Amino acid sequence: MKAIVQYKYGDTNTLYLKDVVKPKIKNNEILIEVYAANVSSGDMRINTLDVPFILKPLLRLVFGIKGPRRKVRGISGSGKVIEIGSEVTKYTIGDRVNYINSMGAGCLAEFVALKESSVMAKIADNVTYTDAAPISFGAMTAYHFMNESTIEKGSNVVIYGASGSVGSYALQLAKHFNASVTAVSSKKNHEAIKAIGADILIDYKTEDFSESKEKYDIVFDAVGKISKKQSMKILKENGKFLSVKSLTKELTSRMVILNELLSEGKIVTLMDKIYSLEEFKEAHKHVYGLHKVGNVVIEVKK
Ligand SMILES: NC(=O)c1ccc[n+]([C@@H]2O[C@H](COP(=O)([O-])OP(=O)(O)OC[C@H]3O[C@@H](n4cnc5c(N)ncnc54)[C@H](OP(=O)(O)O)[C@@H]3O)[C@@H](O)[C@H]2O)c1
Repeated sequence: MKAIVQYKYGDTNTLYLKDVVKPKIKNNEILIEVYAANVSSGDMRINTLDVPFILKPLLRLVFGIKGPRRKVRGISGSGKVIEIGSEVTKYTIGDRVNYINSMGAGCLAEFVALKESSVMAKIADNVTYTDAAPISFGAMTAYHFMNESTIEKGSNVVIYGASGSVGSYALQLAKHFNASVTAVSSKKNHEAIKAIGADILIDYKTEDFSESKEKYDIVFDAVGKISKKQSMKILKENGKFLSVKSLTKELTSRMVILNELLSEGKIVTLMDKIYSLEEFKEAHKHVYGLHKVGNVVIEVKK
């Protein structure tokens, strides 16, 4: 099968399109024919080791010392179940699924074998594979911060970095939970984020969000660029500063909820560009540039 492989950490020149052996499943695994592979900031961080200096040795220990232990890259995506192991009960052949496999990767290939217990859920028939592919990464992260327990009806929320994958889903989730949202992004992206529900727009290149006259219940830094200290002035007395720099959980139960919201049209996937497998370098360059608008996906099978 065709796959994107990497032997040493580094920029997009360390990625190759190769023919590799198609995975074989164990009794507790399913074989997925990949339709869409999500290319995310998470892929960028692991593939390039772009993390704070102090974390680099830890990442090498976890993912591989000189290069990733799992040569076939890609940590999230969507596809169709084409084979199931003898112990599998939750999925059947023909199911459409999306998933994240942060530790094991292997999703940027024509086929991926995943344990039935992986962070994975079924996709409704009215949702495309490309729209479903980024849910397990961007929407999952956003939901960790913007959910029914963090947001109350009428909450006033700032989403800082609303044009990224996490930010664009966070904005929509906050709106879904009936918050009023001030979205911070560069002006070129205002139209796109207005279209997904932003109430007030701030251009981070020309305005200082912390000078806002409004008071907020939550400031969510969706791009890891601001501090709690900067936000204090505009937070209400019991207001909270949340940041993507903190740890999040990947949960199948959250995938199920997010897939439902996607199917019902309550959230959409803001798509910057869809690439073909042959365009894998351009796709990764786009993501590594850190200025994508929403999501970038590689369509492995049409
Ligand atoms: N904690 C976790 O578990 C977790 C999980 C996922 C992601 N993350 C982290 O969350 C961050 C965001 O991830 P992502 O996938 O959403 O990133 P992304 O999609 O690559 O973010 C790109 C967007 O960020 C905007 N941006 C860049 N610099 C900005 C700034 N100074 N102010 C405002 N907006 C800015 C860009 O807009 P412009 O072009 O206008 O600059 C662009 O639209 C990353 O640092 C990632 O590592 C953490």
